[in-house]
Amino acid sequence: MKEREESLRKVKDEILNLKDSPLYAERVENKYLPVIGEGNHSAEIMFVGEAPGKNEAKTGRPFCGRAGKVLDELLLSVGIDRKDVYITNIVKDRPPSNRDPLPDEIALYAPFLDRQIEIIKPKVIATLGRFSMQYVMNRYGLDFELGVISRIHGQVFSAKNFKVVPLYHPASAIYNQHLLPTLKEDFKILKAV
Ligand code: URA
Repeated sequence: MKEREESLRKVKDEILNLKDSPLYAERVENKYLPVIGEGNHSAEIMFVGEAPGKNEAKTGRPFCGRAGKVLDELLLSVGIDRKDVYITNIVKDRPPSNRDPLPDEIALYAPFLDRQIEIIKPKVIATLGRFSMQYVMNRYGLDFELGVISRIHGQVFSAKNFKVVPLYHPASAIYNQHLLPTLKEDFKILKAV
């Protein structure tokens, strides 16, 4: 257990010192923090979002803003306690003006996600949104199963060491009210897995 804590601390320290990142200047300019990840270090379920929003970058905590409220509601709807899961993003710093992460940014930060997965060893990875779906499925041998999120959300895919369940991003339910019932159904599948 101690080893796991130490490995995660090392990941954290490296991200804190990631001065080569094109997003590092955003931290300095806006007094933003990197968002490393939060939750149970032996979690069976790991949620992987896209990149921190403004609230997240201000606090250093993942999914603590509006999308986080939706995520909390979804977890509650199926009786999963937020403190039992681990929540992180592919990109650990906030892209300016909430834009989508760029391929170079994903390439730079993804190895930290890979290490978090290797250390925590979740049984299920729930990807939130298409960026994490594409990255995780491509990286872990499920590229042949990839499709548009509107088709493959809520399906369960088996990678070598864990299952992958692609989900819509919780923020999508803020703009598209009809996606909330879909997300709730998908969370039931996640709970069953
Ligand atoms: N959106 C994300 O993808 N991640 C967060 O942490 C918050 C909003």
